[in-house]
Amino acid sequence: MDINSIKNQIDLDLENINSSKELEELRIKYLGRKGLIAELFDQMRSAKEEERPALGKALNSLKIEVSQKLDEKSKNLSQSTPSQAESIDITCDGILPKLGKQHILNQTIQEICGIFKTIGFEVVNGPEIETEFNNFTGLNIALEHPSRDTFDTFYLGKSPSQRGQKLLLRSHTSPVQIRVMKSRKPPLAVVVPGKVYRPDATDASHSFMFHQVEGFMVDETIRFSDLKGTLELFAKSVFGEDIKMRFRPHYFPFTEPSAEVDISCIICKGEGCSVCGRKGWLEVLGAGMIHPNVFKNVGYPAGRYTGFAFGMGIERIAMLKYGIEDIRLFFENDLRFLSQF
Ligand code: DAH
Repeated sequence: MDINSIKNQIDLDLENINSSKELEELRIKYLGRKGLIAELFDQMRSAKEEERPALGKALNSLKIEVSQKLDEKSKNLSQSTPSQAESIDITCDGILPKLGKQHILNQTIQEICGIFKTIGFEVVNGPEIETEFNNFTGLNIALEHPSRDTFDTFYLGKSPSQRGQKLLLRSHTSPVQIRVMKSRKPPLAVVVPGKVYRPDATDASHSFMFHQVEGFMVDETIRFSDLKGTLELFAKSVFGEDIKMRFRPHYFPFTEPSAEVDISCIICKGEGCSVCGRKGWLEVLGAGMIHPNVFKNVGYPAGRYTGFAFGMGIERIAMLKYGIEDIRLFFENDLRFLSQF
């Protein structure tokens, strides 16, 4: 290549490059020890004696010109934003965003409601702010009844829309029984998941807020055996086929007869261990046949319907099922706990 063709070629080459790496390659191609210009200097030796000074001068100014062009391009490259090819490798693996998941309590609620749905129950939600009537009186819990003490919750003042009734944070999901029965006629098969509030001091097994699932079935011929069969299906689905159940007589104002329901201890299978307090049984829920006064309070004709109801604490079910020892873990939002499920 002679001087002129190098001058043309360098301009073309410079137009086609986008990176400092390519620029460096060009610098070597033109100005390197074995580059195009060095080659011309070599050829100069074979030129005629009298032509050499002019040729040398021309080659030196070519060298300066090429070097200036390369410097200029280098400046331009560093000013313009780096090209895509240089800054992003689109073949690289991306950084996976951390995916959240459903809270263990919601997983448990879904599991429980899912079981009841398979046998025809519908899921109904009720408000966390309730009237005193729905939470207490309608459920046959009289104003002065002692069972109200553990329930007496957070009052919010009077509601203008509910004829001046006192409003409160519901202390159980049972008031949704009143809501549903007041607005609909049997047959009814309903489960109600949701938050409830109690005046409890927080410790490993108590929280001022926790979750329940309520269930009830009302029709003309619902019997205690329907309750038993329904709860047995629930217990076996959640805790395993080999679980045993027992009903212990108990008192709830809104059911008669009432029972507390135990399952055989899932740890020791009934032998007696520290989890079940050596009893071999674990209490999981309260249940019974809906009290005639409740039917009266929602305006159903006397003697027409029978029904069962039950209520369980979700935290308790999850604690038993997964061996969780402190209820506060559910609400502390520690990912080391939550991500296990
Ligand atoms: N509402 C009761 C509570 O919070 C639980 C309960 C017991 C609900 C018996 C029922 C039932 O429907 O029949 O302690």
